[in-house]
Amino acid sequence: MSGIRTLIAGNWKSNKSAEEARAFVKALREGLKEKKRDEREIVVFPPFTSIPAVADELRNSEIGYGAQNVFWETAGAFTGEVSPVFLKELGCRYVIIGHSERRTLFGETDEICNRKMLSSLRTGLRPILCCGETWEQRREEKTFCIIGEQLNAGLHQVPFDAEFDIAYEPVWAIGSGKSATAEQIEVVHSYIHQWLQRKGFASRERVRVIYGGSVTPENVDRLIAVPDVDGVLVGRASLKLESFIRIVDFCCPGEKGASP
Ligand code: 13P
Repeated sequence: MSGIRTLIAGNWKSNKSAEEARAFVKALREGLKEKKRDEREIVVFPPFTSIPAVADELRNSEIGYGAQNVFWETAGAFTGEVSPVFLKELGCRYVIIGHSERRTLFGETDEICNRKMLSSLRTGLRPILCCGETWEQRREEKTFCIIGEQLNAGLHQVPFDAEFDIAYEPVWAIGSGKSATAEQIEVVHSYIHQWLQRKGFASRERVRVIYGGSVTPENVDRLIAVPDVDGVLVGRASLKLESFIRIVDFCCPGEKGASP
């Protein structure tokens, strides 16, 4: 693979019914059709129940879609859980794993994230493993230690040639309206890239490191321009068509991710 594609991902969380999701992606496809965006990969993450409508509407489209969560077993007596095989069957390419809302509201541990990583990879899904520190952990200067632990445990036994992404989402920046600063993001992304390389992962060719936490049309150009940022994971601002299109159309001198 020569050069990497910048990932622009919209995490809709628990928003958009099937019909709302269908209307949104139809308009998104229409709104994006004029320009070629070879160096940008656009992916939306609807709630489970809206995935079939999105899949139907995005047939033969460049826009990808994925799930916000997954279970680690492929089938069985697990009431309420969704197998990676079912997601694959719906045409999902991606799955988000270990989002901070899942960790804090639903008790997901690093070990659970790891099981989900391994089973998603085995099924042929591309996982996006989320990591990030709370404000208190940052204040206590534990940011690198927390992220190192999340990566160590979350990527346990993941093959070095696996293709996945890491989303750095500082918990304090999510939904707060206040993104991390370029300086804060740069040091953490650089730490993650180095960590991956040190452990033997193919790093940039196969693993991108993207940023999430209050990304908006107003700050996206600045955030994408930060060294070591390979894309963005957008929550609230991905729910409105104009704002998501503006984010997809971020301006970056020299197009980040272009082949050298
Ligand atoms: P916001 O963009 O709403 O802060 O959410 C970020 C996020 O959680 C993406 O996964």
